[in-house]
Amino acid sequence: MNRNIGVLISGRGSNLQAIIDAVGDGRLDARIALVVSNRADAYGLVRASEAGIETMVVDHKAHASREAFERVLVDGLRARDVRLVCLAGFMRLLGATFVGAFPNAILNIHPALLPAFPGLHAQRQAFDHGVKVAGATVHFVDTNLDAGPIVLQAAVPVLDEDTEDTLADRILAQEHRLYPAAIQRVLDGRWSIAGRRVVFAEAE
Ligand code: GRF
Repeated sequence: MNRNIGVLISGRGSNLQAIIDAVGDGRLDARIALVVSNRADAYGLVRASEAGIETMVVDHKAHASREAFERVLVDGLRARDVRLVCLAGFMRLLGATFVGAFPNAILNIHPALLPAFPGLHAQRQAFDHGVKVAGATVHFVDTNLDAGPIVLQAAVPVLDEDTEDTLADRILAQEHRLYPAAIQRVLDGRWSIAGRRVVFAEAE
């Protein structure tokens, strides 16, 4: 089966960079077929170009409806034979047009231990709540926000001397390790979804 992935971004693209680096040093056996951004000024586009990866900008504001926007995304990804879509700081909620086009084939990374702290500023939510353990989650995407079945999680401690920024940095370091590992496991297959649980088969 092909190992083409598409990465959707809206901003700085540090998770995209982690994926690029993991492909480069062999930790991730995948081909980044396309990087799509809904913002022309996303720094991640520079990272992709520097790595020689094809990019596409699809401005959601230039489309009359979410369906029309998503149809352009789907067509672009399908044209490159993308098997797995990886959201990496992509700041648009995806609807049925997109999610239905890639069943169980869209991942997202979220900077919290879901189901705690979905939505924006998850690190700040966790910090303000006073949790002692925070972390990151890679999950499958459905049409609800930060809600699909969980693939992998990583936990980090919250230290007394932390600020929101030092906590966010500690989480981000784990994101950069976790996301390539999760993509690799999903591309490898040998998993199933039972209810909400992603179950990996034993290695042979
Ligand atoms: C990351 O914290 C990710 O978990 C969240 O958005 C942020 C994107 O950062 N979904 P970057 O663009 O990958 O640097």
